Amino acid sequence: MKFIVCNNYQEISKKAAEIIADVIKAKPDCILGLATGSTPVGTYKELIAMNKAGDISFKTVKSYNLDEYYPISPDNDQSYRYFMNENLFNHIDIDMANTHLLDGEAKDPDAECKAYDKAIEAAGGIDIQILGIGRNGHIAFNEPDEALIAPTHKTGLTADTIDANSRFFESADLVPKHALTMGMASIFGARKIILLANGASKAEAIKELLSDEIKTSNPSTLLKLHNDVTIICDKEAYGE
Ligand code: PGA
Repeated sequence: MKFIVCNNYQEISKKAAEIIADVIKAKPDCILGLATGSTPVGTYKELIAMNKAGDISFKTVKSYNLDEYYPISPDNDQSYRYFMNENLFNHIDIDMANTHLLDGEAKDPDAECKAYDKAIEAAGGIDIQILGIGRNGHIAFNEPDEALIAPTHKTGLTADTIDANSRFFESADLVPKHALTMGMASIFGARKIILLANGASKAEAIKELLSDEIKTSNPSTLLKLHNDVTIICDKEAYGE
């Protein structure tokens, strides 16, 4: 596991975008694993600028997102589909048909999750997965627990995550209580993983990433078992 400690959020965003751009340049039909949340927004802005400047093209890129609330409609401005369209897809030359998110309205969520893993596998697997991290150490919606789930699955959100995400909703009551999320194995299937973290609220979770321990009470620590993970964080998140 490699750490890149940056001076500020802008530096994190630039570094992450450079790494993603290198993957796209090396493999124009690559598969990106994308994340929502406030942390990757700066990275997406950098990628949009690179695309507009003609440095990279998304014309043959495919994407799969980590998770989606459940239930939620794609038109809901809090859905992750809406977020991705607003913060990335509407501003780059990607073919919308090549952008994939779990269906927050799926009648049969289990079947939806199984089909999602199959589709990623059939597409050849994720070349680079972008991750944020919860202040409780969650990655995607794999929340701290005694046991973690390997494949993509439906899950409940912890009180801490509902609280953290309530800043985007009018009230905590309106935060969906469930989500469909890639599981640990689905994330680990990515050939390369970058995890972005900024701010002191992430320092506790990152501290455990710096230790030698692996524990399901901090799902991000399992990333120590993957052979190509880069943590890009600022000094506050790093605990300096
Ligand atoms: P954030 O969320 O980027 O908004 O801090 C990250 C996460 O909860 O995974």
